[in-house]
Amino acid sequence: MNFDLTEEHLMIRQAARDFAQNDCKPGVIERDATMTFPKEQVRKMGELGFLGMMVSPTYGGGGMDALSYVIAMEEISKIDASCSVIMSVNNSLVCWGLEEFGTEEQKKKYLAPLAKGEKIGAFCLSEPEAGSDATSQRTTAIDMGDHYLLNGTKNWITNGGSASTYLVIAQTDASKGHRGINVLIVEKGMPGFEVAKKEDKLGIRASDTHTLLFNDVKVPKENRIGEDGFGFKFAMKTLSGGRIGIAAQALGIAAGAYELAAAYSKERKAFGTEIINHQAIAFKLADMATEIEAARLLVYKAARLKDQGKNYDIASAMAKVFASETAMKVTTEAVQVHGGYGYVKEYHVERLMRDAKITQIYEGTSEVQRIVISRGVLA
Ligand code: CAA
Repeated sequence: MNFDLTEEHLMIRQAARDFAQNDCKPGVIERDATMTFPKEQVRKMGELGFLGMMVSPTYGGGGMDALSYVIAMEEISKIDASCSVIMSVNNSLVCWGLEEFGTEEQKKKYLAPLAKGEKIGAFCLSEPEAGSDATSQRTTAIDMGDHYLLNGTKNWITNGGSASTYLVIAQTDASKGHRGINVLIVEKGMPGFEVAKKEDKLGIRASDTHTLLFNDVKVPKENRIGEDGFGFKFAMKTLSGGRIGIAAQALGIAAGAYELAAAYSKERKAFGTEIINHQAIAFKLADMATEIEAARLLVYKAARLKDQGKNYDIASAMAKVFASETAMKVTTEAVQVHGGYGYVKEYHVERLMRDAKITQIYEGTSEVQRIVISRGVLA
């Protein structure tokens, strides 16, 4: 598989790097501490085309390949994983799902503003009692003829408060199991829809994560995506691509922590020399660099398969499980290289360590990825 980057890929990398350095880095520590949504950064991401990178220009997107997307995700995640999760959910879970399976009317009405960054989207699958076991949906969408009546609770929804467009997965006919599940487009402001509790999280604290309540929300039939009963497959297909984005986020968090640790080790002196000259530190950095490179190859492979129109379900799960575990290991080591300085906010690595943890949990835990991989490779 060819991983050579084109001129365009290199330009995207530079643009994402510049955006991260100039727009995300200032204030990143304060936004994390105060859980402040990066409104200005999100507006700029829309302006720069980072919110609808893979969407066709027909609907206001950038028409780029998945490799471009993961390159940008890596760069932004090195500096600000809160910004990158907002970007990832909008690109891979909401825009991709709408473009791939939506009707022409749905694309014109909902996809175009999301791709241009005029609006933000959210993907609503998880529930208090349905996280990894996604078929056990308790939220119901009862068929009332010309509309669905939506009732239930969704938990841990990224962009929950900031979004305007929500893709909500719900059970229409429990007797049909996963084939009785639908996905509906819900707009903020529909009567009965309430944005509830905002979570106070360990990491990615500037992104907003909410509980959502649906109480007799009337959703028009034309807001269903796909055929009746397509909701579970929609979620699985969408998450499969989403996992490439989260793998790229984990890769970026790891690479960001490594860059900080490498730079610090060339400045900090102990026992009469820069600590990079101590083998204990040099070997740590060697291992970090090796694991990051391996993660990058898996992420690029999954993106390339997607671009080639080949099946990427196993590749995206492998990329996510490996990159997220690498992110946890590398960020923990980066804190260790920094010693006491690593434990305080000013040096950024403690935040990256906190941010890394969620990549092992959302869009399918590491355990879920291993279910997908084992079923795939052992079939
Ligand atoms: N593409 C297409 N169809 C798929 C599929 C895929 N990738 N994966 C499964 N399916 C289909 C299967 O073929 C099967 O269909 P048929 O019966 O017609 O053959 C159907 O879906 C059911 O599949 P399984 O029997 O494999 O389902 P399962 O109940 O055993 O669950 C699972 C499998 C992998 C554990 C799945 O439930 C899963 O991925 N769970 C995790 C959900 C998740 O990622 N949640 C994260 C929440 S979203 C989030 O975090 C967003 C955010 O805000 C950041």
